[in-house]
Amino acid sequence: MDGHGVTRRRLLELGGGVTAASLALAAGPAAALVQSRGGARAIGQRMPQGAELPATPPRRKRADSVGFAIVGLGGYALNQMMPRFAEAGRAHIAAIVSGNADKLARVGDAYGIPQNARYSYETFGNIASDRRVDAVYIVLPSGLHADWTVRAFAAGKHVFCEKPMALSSAECERMIAASRRANRKLMIAYRSHFEPHNLQAMELMAQSAVGRTRLLRTEQSYRMSPTSPRENWRVNRALAGGGPLEDLGIYGLQAALYLAREMPESISASTFRPAGDPRFSEIFASVASQWRFPSGAVAQLATSYDSAGTNFVHVRGTDGALIMDPATNYSGQRMRLEGRDRREIEAGDPLVQFAGQLDHLADAIRDGARIRTPGEMGLRDLRLIEAIYASAASGRTVGLKPDGTVRS
Ligand SMILES: NC(=O)c1ccc[n+]([C@@H]2O[C@H](COP(=O)([O-])OP(=O)(O)OC[C@H]3O[C@@H](n4cnc5c(N)ncnc54)[C@H](OP(=O)(O)O)[C@@H]3O)[C@@H](O)[C@H]2O)c1
Repeated sequence: MDGHGVTRRRLLELGGGVTAASLALAAGPAAALVQSRGGARAIGQRMPQGAELPATPPRRKRADSVGFAIVGLGGYALNQMMPRFAEAGRAHIAAIVSGNADKLARVGDAYGIPQNARYSYETFGNIASDRRVDAVYIVLPSGLHADWTVRAFAAGKHVFCEKPMALSSAECERMIAASRRANRKLMIAYRSHFEPHNLQAMELMAQSAVGRTRLLRTEQSYRMSPTSPRENWRVNRALAGGGPLEDLGIYGLQAALYLAREMPESISASTFRPAGDPRFSEIFASVASQWRFPSGAVAQLATSYDSAGTNFVHVRGTDGALIMDPATNYSGQRMRLEGRDRREIEAGDPLVQFAGQLDHLADAIRDGARIRTPGEMGLRDLRLIEAIYASAASGRTVGLKPDGTVRS
């Protein structure tokens, strides 16, 4: 199927039930939490603080450059990813989608986006006939990823979806099924797979640089300012799931997997939520888990929205250790080997991770290259997140099947 045949199902997916036009321009965080059937919905927000727009629009570099539509002009899109298109060789911004008309105008002008390539959430379905757009980049709150990915596939586009892929394995399966139905690519924005230190760490572990892996420890935390689910989607369960694990801890979860190079066979976990704190009325403040791998290695993962900032990954083996601190930030990565091959490792500029992802998807679309971070990887990770919450809720260790699902 080419993805352009408009079946009844596609029409439903394209329509999607978004009816928030009148609220779109309210553009305050408090407007964001109007709930719709089955969860929250896409509603425009005000311009993020400190947003920097380019003085001159970036130019596409190649005739076969892939055109991306950016869905959701929030902090990460405007401050990190959109400026990085200038460094991509084969990707350019072809369209923008936002619920805030003022932002559509300001961002559209700055990036040189034609008026008829500026979409609202209500007009998004029209993107199906916009041949300038090859791929849709979903940078919405996490609870909206699944629905908007399915809509993008229904419009016949490829999808680049931010992490976490979704908030449940069932949603991930729905996204993968939509990708197959449309015969379009699905890539999850796991930027560490394009970051030189993390790539080198993967290589070192493949070469058994610390001997046999015995212990992995990861921690990703920061202390969130006072807020509430009404004003911040990150503490709203429908939009953020359990909270820090899906947002920050997923980097530690990913690193544990790509450095251990095996799937855990069991997980025990606990969560913490202080009473009376509006930040944690719907989500967890902290999530910790311990994993056991078939090789005998053990991983300890911790993540929190309520402790002083850190982001490290440590691997200890029979012959040494690999220390990454900070491990998965936007920049400033530091990494060293301890033991028989003791040395600091300067792997390269971490900033290449952003455009690296864009060119990777472009290569997959144009040349059929295999996607390094496909939907199946996002699904695997959501299964493990579900196992962590299942263990914490039951107070028991859960056994896992090789695909990450909990053994009954
Ligand atoms: N890979 C990474 O390193 C990284 C880093 C940060 C974030 N992320 C991911 O990127 C996604 C967006 O995060 P962000 O930090 O950019 O969030 P954000 O600054 O709050 O922006 C989210 C944008 O989504 C749109 N939106 C639509 N419906 C919304 C609703 N009901 N509530 C709030 N916003 C709504 C708004 O854009 P409009 O006003 O244009 O409609 C809003 O500005 C998340 O999935 C997050 O996990 C990834």
